[in-house]
Amino acid sequence: MVQSSAPGKIILFGEHAVVYGRPAIAVPLSDLRATAAVRHGRRSGVWLLAPDLGVEKRLAESDADDAFTLVVRLVREAATLEALPDMEIEVRSAIPIAGGLGSGAAISAAMVRALVEFLGLDHRFDDAKVSQFTYEVEKIHHGTPSGIDNTVVTYEQPVYFARRSPTNLVETFEVKRALRILVADTGVQSSTKIVVDDVRLRWRQQTAVFEKLFDLCGQSAERARKAIEEGDLYEIGHLMNVNHKALTEMTVSSVELDRLVERALSAGALGAKLSGGGRGGNMLALVTPELEHPVRKSLLDAGATAVFATTIS
Ligand code: PMV
Repeated sequence: MVQSSAPGKIILFGEHAVVYGRPAIAVPLSDLRATAAVRHGRRSGVWLLAPDLGVEKRLAESDADDAFTLVVRLVREAATLEALPDMEIEVRSAIPIAGGLGSGAAISAAMVRALVEFLGLDHRFDDAKVSQFTYEVEKIHHGTPSGIDNTVVTYEQPVYFARRSPTNLVETFEVKRALRILVADTGVQSSTKIVVDDVRLRWRQQTAVFEKLFDLCGQSAERARKAIEEGDLYEIGHLMNVNHKALTEMTVSSVELDRLVERALSAGALGAKLSGGGRGGNMLALVTPELEHPVRKSLLDAGATAVFATTIS
């Protein structure tokens, strides 16, 4: 049996605007992972098991637009294999689904790596390929993904990212002072694809307004990168608030997200914002060691269904 894993992620700055070419910053959540295990099959065909989702199916009988099926097909085609051996692929994930934490991308990346190793194809599939396949699968989840999720979960490093043609801009950067971030779940599941599609509709209807908001998010990401490199926590917090306001104006926040953001700030967080597709899912609060406990308590009192902490360094 072979096993592989990939982390979840948070978008610190620039979600949505990144789809329209503005820069964004994302970081991996290395403690929150998806794993894929591949073993020889006991029955004929390729079987997909996702016990957490109650899924056990033969891929030959799945829809062509099923994400798991697509991962297997991409690997098989790239390896120019006519057929695959009988095998079982078991997927597990500690990353909440539809919460803006990149669960889909992490599962795809883990699956690609495990399959490639199981089939003995390692030498033909580098990280760039893993990222590219994950991107293809993300199209099912997102419609028009920017490419930031597959990049951060594949390379597992903080990235400054901008969608560019023919190749995206992907830069790593120094984190001068570690950032302690609380990630709080609204408990509301939200489909990134639906929100991204809705933002596109609104952008078509009010292009000038949305372009300005995207610019503001892109500038926040650019300034935040500098502040992270200089260790200026107050500036980072301020820019998170600016970014959240722009996302609210884009209509991608929600009552629950706004409530958690307000409560985190009243408890002293240096900054707070939604993260990912929005209209549900998770929000982030930047804290100092002294503030961590009171901010966590406020978030739970305000209805967060889960709060966990991560350090970006
Ligand atoms: O909801 P998530 O965590 O998958 O993040 C989506 C980020 C967006 O910018 C909204 C879409 C994208 O593809 O970049």
